[in-house]
Amino acid sequence: MILLSVVGARPNFMKLAPLARALAGRPAVEHVIVHTGQHYDAEMSDTFFAELGIPRPQFNLEVGSGSHAAQTAAIMQRFEPVCLGAKPGVVLVYGDVNSTVAAALVAAKLGIRVAHVEAGLRSRDWTMPEEINRVVTDRLADLLFTPSRDAVLNLRAEGVPDDRIHFVGNIMIDSLVTSLAAARELGAPRRHGVEGSRYVLVTLHRPGNVDAPDSLRELLDTLAELSFDAPVLFPVHPRTRARIRDLGWTAPAGARLRLLDPLPYLELLSLEVSAGLVVTDSGGLQEETTYLGVPCLTVRPSTERPITCSEGTNRLVPARREAILAAAREAGATAARPAPVLERWDGRAAERIAAVLVDGARYS
Ligand code: UD1
Repeated sequence: MILLSVVGARPNFMKLAPLARALAGRPAVEHVIVHTGQHYDAEMSDTFFAELGIPRPQFNLEVGSGSHAAQTAAIMQRFEPVCLGAKPGVVLVYGDVNSTVAAALVAAKLGIRVAHVEAGLRSRDWTMPEEINRVVTDRLADLLFTPSRDAVLNLRAEGVPDDRIHFVGNIMIDSLVTSLAAARELGAPRRHGVEGSRYVLVTLHRPGNVDAPDSLRELLDTLAELSFDAPVLFPVHPRTRARIRDLGWTAPAGARLRLLDPLPYLELLSLEVSAGLVVTDSGGLQEETTYLGVPCLTVRPSTERPITCSEGTNRLVPARREAILAAAREAGATAARPAPVLERWDGRAAERIAAVLVDGARYS
């Protein structure tokens, strides 16, 4: 049986790695990997393949950047002939990026079964491109692999039949579990000169936060202010970097805010594990901080991962100076709680997915 995985953007790679490993152990399966080229900078893509031991993709569609329509259309046009040639039994898509929905559309229209890894998450915020991608992909999918029970309920409420839904757990946590010892060993806090301090780790790249100059300026000013309490490390996504450059913003004298290049997976994880606080708008960091028990402020009005707030360490904050400073100081003053143990966030999600795909197992 040929299984074909399509990935394109940084958060896809951590979800592909464990499944590629699980499938490699099953001789009945030929696993073909297609990279759409949505992310193309070495530090946004190649680094992750090398670090996570992902086999080299057999195809790279090299679509690059563009408007949502242009990027999605380019992926569809270039993926269709690959699909026709490879004749996969199942096309696997990951997460909620443009590559996910584009590949799902192509496969579904060719009558090829679509499997969605990380199905059922809903922010209910239709202004987020990722929400559109999630809903459309789930509608097209024949197999829906969910990370949490709330995702199962979302899918049921939308009328997805139960026999398509498999609650396999969180595959992002598989990568984390595999890499945690090496990340601790790496000692990134020491290398960044923040060891022993309650430093703040920041990632921000959502269009809603960084595309409007006023909002971005307020966020940067807030982080600079926060850095007078504790050092702030901010690995900057290329889109955020470009917006900061447009803004011409520089940190005030004495601020301990450091803008870094995007970091490799292990280095980011190494910083995350020992952080006093994470401030982010990423989906993955909300989940990782919950698993690690590190306090997290998510600068967004909603989250598609509510379990990280109800059971984990995550808290939503508006993108406003007072709100962020107050929440950060409150988090700093609160005693650390033990990390929660979430159902099937145990490092075995990829094995469960492989068992469904290859052995016909069921996980309800
Ligand atoms: C995409 C995903 C988002 C995910 C994020 C993780 C969609 C709709 N969004 O957003 O859900 O959280 O990836 O990183 O798919 N760029 C580079 N080099 C690269 C890639 C991008 O410089 O390797 C720059 C380009 O200027 C590009 C911009 O970043 O226009 C945005 O890239 P794009 O892939 O469109 O979306 P992301 O913001 O990365």
